[in-house]
Amino acid sequence: MSRISQERKESLLRRYGNRINGANGPGEGRPGGFRGPRGPRGGMGVGKPKNMSSTINRLLTYIGRDKFKILFVFICVLGSSVTNLGGSYILRPIINNLVAADRTVEEKINNLAIGILIMISIYIVGVICSYLQQRIMIGVSQNALIKIREDLFRKVQKLPLKYHDTHTHGDIMSRFTNDLDSVGEMLNHTMTQIFSGILTLIGTVILMFITNWILAVVMIVTIPLLVQVGGMIGKLSRSYFVEQQQALGAVNGYIEETVTAQKVIKVFCHEETTMDEFEFLSDDLRSKQMKAQFFGGIMGPVMGNLSQISYALSATVGGILCLTSNFDIGGLTIFTNYSRQFSRPVNELSQQMNTIYAALAGAERVFDVMDERPEKADTSEAIEICSEAEPVRRGHKVKGEVILKNVTFGYIPGKTVLKNINVEAKPGQKIAFVGSTGAGKTTITNLINRFYEIEEGEILIDGINIKNIRRDSLRRNIAMVLQDTHLFSGTVRENIRYGRLDATDEEVVAAAKIACAHTFIERLPEGYDTILEGDGANLSQGERQLLNIARAAISKAPILILDEATSSVDTRTEKYIERGMDQLMKNRTTFVIAHRLSTVRNADQIIVLEHGEIIEQGTHEELLEQGGRYYQLYIGAVELE
Ligand SMILES: Nc1ncnc2c1ncn2[C@@H]1O[C@H](COP(=O)(O)OP(=O)(O)OP(=O)(O)O)[C@@H](O)[C@H]1O
Ligand SMILES: [Mg+2]
Repeated sequence: MSRISQERKESLLRRYGNRINGANGPGEGRPGGFRGPRGPRGGMGVGKPKNMSSTINRLLTYIGRDKFKILFVFICVLGSSVTNLGGSYILRPIINNLVAADRTVEEKINNLAIGILIMISIYIVGVICSYLQQRIMIGVSQNALIKIREDLFRKVQKLPLKYHDTHTHGDIMSRFTNDLDSVGEMLNHTMTQIFSGILTLIGTVILMFITNWILAVVMIVTIPLLVQVGGMIGKLSRSYFVEQQQALGAVNGYIEETVTAQKVIKVFCHEETTMDEFEFLSDDLRSKQMKAQFFGGIMGPVMGNLSQISYALSATVGGILCLTSNFDIGGLTIFTNYSRQFSRPVNELSQQMNTIYAALAGAERVFDVMDERPEKADTSEAIEICSEAEPVRRGHKVKGEVILKNVTFGYIPGKTVLKNINVEAKPGQKIAFVGSTGAGKTTITNLINRFYEIEEGEILIDGINIKNIRRDSLRRNIAMVLQDTHLFSGTVRENIRYGRLDATDEEVVAAAKIACAHTFIERLPEGYDTILEGDGANLSQGERQLLNIARAAISKAPILILDEATSSVDTRTEKYIERGMDQLMKNRTTFVIAHRLSTVRNADQIIVLEHGEIIEQGTHEELLEQGGRYYQLYIGAVELE
C-alpha cells in the first residue's frame, strides 16, 4: 500500500469518492450494478434535497392516481394503531378482574375468558388491518414507481444527444437504480410508518392521560431528554453515513472501472498497482463503515435503555400512587407498558428522516432529468417525407437532393467546428468526405439527420429545409452506418432487421449478402439465429461493421450515410462490399466518409475538409489535376494529419 503516493491517494478519493449519491448534478452518479449495504436506517445517508415541497407535490401526483386505495390504507393504519393500543388497554380490566376482592373464582375465570377473547378479536382485526395496509400500499407505490420509471425512460429516449454528451452513462443509470430505489423505499414503507408512528404516539399519550394524568405528566417531562439524545446520536451517525456512502461509492466506482478496463490493465501490467489502490480504498471504506455502523447500531440500545429509565420512573411513581391514592394495579400495568411503547414511535420517526431525505434527494434527481429540455418539438407545419420505395407511406416522396448552404456549427457555444460549409448532392450522387481526424466529417452527418440543430445556414432535402420535416420522418429516410458500431443483445437476424422491422427473412439475407456478411454468418454456430452478446463481443470488429452495414442496407431510405463503415474490414472484403454497395447506392444519395482514399475514388464529388472548412471539392480526376491537398494525399506525399 505504501507504493501509492499521498498525492495519488487524495486523487483516488477525490475522483471516485464524490461520484455517488450526488444530488448535485452531472458526472457524479454510479451505475447501480454495485450496490452497497444500506445503513440500519435504510436510507442512503445523502444530503438534504434542494426543493422539498415541490418534489413532494410531484411525488404526490404520482401516488395521487390511487387516491381511494391510499384512503383505504390510511383507514387500515388507523385500524391497526387503534387495535394495537386498544388491545393493550384491555389488559387493565383483565388484571383488575383478577385482583378484585369482591368476585368469586368462577366469576373471575369467566371474566378472564371474555377479556382474553375480546383481546384476541381486537388483535385479529389489527393483523388484518396491517396485512391490508402493507399489501395495498406496496401496490400503490409500485404503480407510482413504474409510472416514474417509464416517464424517466421515455424522457431519456427523447433527450437530445447533447444531454448524453454532457452526462456520464453512470449518472443517468444511477437515477434509474439508486435514486428510484430510495423513492421506492419511502413509498413502500416510510409513509405508512410515519402515519402509524404519529397515531401511536398521539394514542399512547391520550391513553396515558386517561389512565392516570399525574403519571402522564411525569412521562411527558422525559420526552425532551429522549429527543435530545436521539438527535445527538442521529446527527453523529448521519455524518458518518455520508462518509460511508462516499467511500462505498469510491470502491464501487473503482471496481466498475477496473472491470471494464481489464484488457487495458493487463496490456500495461497494472494489476499490482490496481490491487494496491483498491486495498487503499477498501481500507478507507472499512474505517468509515465501522464508525457509521457503530453509531447507527447504538441508537437502538441507547434509546432502549433510556426508555427503561422512564419505565422505572413510571413504575416507581405509579407504585406510590397505587399505595397513596386509588390508582389500580391494572392501570399501573398498562401504564408501564405504554411508557415503553411511548419511546418507540419517537425513535422510529427520527430514524425515518434519513430515508426521507435520501428518497426526496433521489426523486429530485429523477425529476431533474424529466425537466430537461427534450429535442425541440416538430412545428405544426412540419411535413412527412417518405421513400419512393415505400408506397404505403404518406408524404413528400424524396428524390434525394441534399443541399448544405453556408452551414456553420459548434457543439459548444463559441467553439466553431464547421465553418461555412456548402455541399450540393444531386439525387443518386455519391458524395465523399475526406479529411484528417477531427476535421468535422462526422459532425456534418450529425447535422443532416438533426442529431444537433444548426445555428447558421440551412440544410435542404429536395428544397425543403430539414427543420420543417418531422424528425422521425427525416431519420426514417436516412440510413446510417455510424462510426461507432453498436449491436443489441439478440440474434444476428434481429440485429439486421433493426434497420427495417417489417423486412422478410429473405430481405435480411439479401442485405447480409450486400454487406458481405452472409458468408461469416453462415459459419456461425446457429447461422442467422446466433445470439449476439454484449455489443457483439463474440464477433470480430470487422464482422460487427459488416452487420452494421447490413442493417443500413435493409433500409429503403433514399439517403445513405456511411461513416467509416469499412474501416476495420480487410481491403479484399471492402472491394466486395463496394460492389454490393454500388447496387445499394443506385438511386440513393450517399455520403461516404473514409480514410482510405481508394474507397472514395469513384464518388461523384469528393469534399476535402480541414479544420471544419472545405478546402477542395471535385471529382477524383479534377482534384488530381488541381494538384492540391487531395493530390498530395493520394500520391502519399503527405499523411493525413
Ligand atoms: N459531442 C461533441 N461535443 C463537443 N465536441 C465534439 C463532439 N463531437 C465532436 N466534437 C469535436 O468536433 C470536432 C469534429 O469532430 P468529428 O467527430 O466531426 O471529426 P471527424 O472528422 O469525424 O474525425 P474522425 O476522422 O476522427 O472520425 C472535433 O474537434 C471534436 O473534438
Ligand atoms: Mg468521425
